[in-house]
Amino acid sequence: MPQPSKVLGKAWADEQRTLRVAKLQVALRELLATSPHFTFEIGCGHGHWLTAYAQKFPEKFCLGIDLITTRVERSVRKQTIGQINNVHFLKAEATELLDALSPEHQLNEIFILYPDPWPKTKHHKNRFINQENLARLAKHAPNGAKLHFRTDDLDYYQWTLEHLKQNPDWKLLETEAWPFERTTFFEERMKAKRDLITEKHSA
Ligand SMILES: C[S@@+](CC[C@H](N)C(=O)[O-])C[C@H]1O[C@@H](n2cnc3c(N)ncnc32)[C@H](O)[C@@H]1O
Repeated sequence: MPQPSKVLGKAWADEQRTLRVAKLQVALRELLATSPHFTFEIGCGHGHWLTAYAQKFPEKFCLGIDLITTRVERSVRKQTIGQINNVHFLKAEATELLDALSPEHQLNEIFILYPDPWPKTKHHKNRFINQENLARLAKHAPNGAKLHFRTDDLDYYQWTLEHLKQNPDWKLLETEAWPFERTTFFEERMKAKRDLITEKHSA
């Protein structure tokens, strides 16, 4: 029998999540009103990569999110100083943002660059890549949409490769070239670069 305090704690956390998702739904409806199909970066950090990508591809609308307020603020500063009108940054948690999307919103491209690797086995459950989140991404990705994953961590690379191989919605593209290079804040500190590109391919 779980302790009442634990039950109350989970109920409260669930309620807070529901409120955040509802707020995001309102924000996204307005933000994506004229650009419902967009490029999405999860864990944009200081926004180096996505601001450069948006400048290179002005026809694409790009949305970057991160959990950490100061990183989002730095990203917004780059967008403002550069007057780059096709990129927007939000402080949001990735699963909450995905749950807040409406059916008309589509992820044309997804980028996950140097996600937190959570190296200890007991922390693997915190890794963003899992079957539940691959399904979340697939739900809003049209067939042909590409998911780009880059890490310095060999174990997380292998983990992601295995999850993708087992997933019915994402097909690995073995020979696809990485579409755009701009060194990210974390990349400067990393020793290795391992890429996976996969395409949404549901029956
Ligand atoms: C190692 S950093 C990499 C940042 C950036 N991509 C780079 O290469 O410089 C990982 C980032 O992902 C963010 N992050 C981790 N989990 C997240 C989640 N569930 N939703 C949104 N952002 C997340 C962290 O706050 C952190 O800024």
